[in-house]
Amino acid sequence: MAGRIPQYFIDDLLARVNIIDVVDGRVERLKRTGKNYSGLCPFHKEKSPSFSVSPEKQFYYCFGCGAGGNAIGFLMEYDRLDFPVAVEELARLVGMEVPRENNSPQQAQREKQLKDLYGILDEAARFYQQQLTQHPQRDTAINYLKGRGLSGQAAKAFGIGYAPPGWDNLLQALGADKQRTDALEQAGMLIHNEERNSHYDRFRERIMFPIRDMRGRVIAFGGRVLGDEKPKYLNSPETETFHKGRELYGLYEARQTNAQLKRLLIVEGYMDVVGLAQHGIHYAVATLGTATSAQHLERLFKVVPEVVFCFDGDEAGRKAAGRALETTLPVIRDGQEARFLFLPEGEDPDSLVRTEGRDAFQIRIDQSLPLSEYFFRSQTEQADLESMDGRARFSTRALPLIRAMQPSLLQQMMLERICEITGLSLEQINSVINLHQATTDAAVPEQPLPPVQQAPQGTRSAGPHSGRDAELPARRPRPRSQTGNLDLCDKAISCLLHFPQLAASIAPASELQGMAERNADMLIALVDYLQTTPNASLGTLVIDWQEDPQRSAWLMMLNEIAHNTPLTDGAERELQDAIKRLLRERRPEMELDALLKKNRQSPLTQDEKQRLTQLLASRQN
Ligand code: GTP
Ligand code: MN
Repeated sequence: MAGRIPQYFIDDLLARVNIIDVVDGRVERLKRTGKNYSGLCPFHKEKSPSFSVSPEKQFYYCFGCGAGGNAIGFLMEYDRLDFPVAVEELARLVGMEVPRENNSPQQAQREKQLKDLYGILDEAARFYQQQLTQHPQRDTAINYLKGRGLSGQAAKAFGIGYAPPGWDNLLQALGADKQRTDALEQAGMLIHNEERNSHYDRFRERIMFPIRDMRGRVIAFGGRVLGDEKPKYLNSPETETFHKGRELYGLYEARQTNAQLKRLLIVEGYMDVVGLAQHGIHYAVATLGTATSAQHLERLFKVVPEVVFCFDGDEAGRKAAGRALETTLPVIRDGQEARFLFLPEGEDPDSLVRTEGRDAFQIRIDQSLPLSEYFFRSQTEQADLESMDGRARFSTRALPLIRAMQPSLLQQMMLERICEITGLSLEQINSVINLHQATTDAAVPEQPLPPVQQAPQGTRSAGPHSGRDAELPARRPRPRSQTGNLDLCDKAISCLLHFPQLAASIAPASELQGMAERNADMLIALVDYLQTTPNASLGTLVIDWQEDPQRSAWLMMLNEIAHNTPLTDGAERELQDAIKRLLRERRPEMELDALLKKNRQSPLTQDEKQRLTQLLASRQN
């Protein structure tokens, strides 16, 4: 790893790269619309384009998910690269060499150390692979792997190797001098015998699985015995390069096979990952002997929108599933999905895919339980829903888990389902929660529940239903962004963001002056923009507003409003309704102020002049 990349180079690079070339081929349905390009956002699922790129500003932005940035940012996000790697990548595209600044001595030393670590780990991986083909006793290892049905090809894809019997094979092969021995030790490959002040190999007589990071660098190893000795597996200790609770075995290999993964399967063991891949399921990853952590999940959800947990069908598997569920609930967001797959008792993914083959296994994956399904199944199994008492107990257990979730449609749906299952009303549920809070430690992070909306028969989701909101008991503070609780301006804004063309169907912006609501300025500016800019779209809006500090601050807020508001079917009516009510409720003195203020800044339109006269006249009465 070299020193910092100087800023002048980055500026220079960005000046030479055309973001369109970078985005082209990575964004579906990319086409020119006026000054800009638009297409389907590669960072979230969408059907109509809200992703736009400005060649002039060399900038991209997505209104749907808020992703935005320059060419470097795009590559980092799209190819999941670190900053320096993205810079290298772009530099290669335009044939530039990346210069490096000199580091401070400490920094330089640390980087050298890391470089040595990665270097020696890579050498170790190659050493073990070579032993698998060359060591005099290689046959025991090869026979073991063959006996487990592993093909040479699969072994190669995962870089599987062999640590032969003996105390110092690796040390002899790679530890030529003190510096290299130190590196081997720091990489976790040697054990230091304090008494004798000597070193010996950590991994001896084992099948070796190199663990790679997202960039493909070897960061650690797992080693399996060839027989039934204990411990069955030995993993590298925590080192500078290896943090067990964060890494996933097989993730690099999965992404190598398919850069556009849609889902990942989380299994338990090394052999499961390898066995599945050999049978054509190239999207399995394994934690390294630990339970799946929130950190794991966050990493996985950055790569794919869907993860499927795979568990044994026994008691231990069910326990593990329960833990995985509790880890997943607070992490999962709209647009992401988690599913639960339970295998028949006594089978693991490796054995099962061998006996029944890829297609049958794939069907199991497709039929796995969605998170909410599993949630309710496991929660209701433990409760007698026939009795009042049982229903209360069920809610006491289930509600805190739901409360810990991110505000999302899934959360809303799960709350509705609880109402259905228990027959409890929102009010009763709230009192259960309050009771629960009063009697238990705050084991679950404090997060208010959104209002439960008793969906009318036949309607599925929680769209904004005006009118009903006022009747909801306001027991708990609601998060500002809850959809059922939008004020009129936000509601109108949201409709316009989802259907910008509706701007044509409402009163001109100039007639909206004088509204007292929060965000009224923003709404007026939005309407004005959409009504007066030829070929206006959200893409052009973003690009045009980006420069002005006031408006670019609004962009963030618009984004939040759009993001927190689901589409509804009756957007047009809803918009007109909201505008009508806003107009009715506006106060003449504010309207007057607004018009007078505007008059000082720019000429008024004919309509505005007329309205101003009216207002002035009525004030004199
Ligand atoms: P096979 O038994 O060879 O099929 O391996 P497996 O990968 O299927 O292992 P298993 O399902 O028994 O265990 C799942 C994972 O738990 C392994 O891949 C290891 O990461 C971890 N593990 C299992 N046994 C041990 C052990 O003895 N020590 C450590 N540190 N980890 C273990
Ligand atoms: Mn196994």
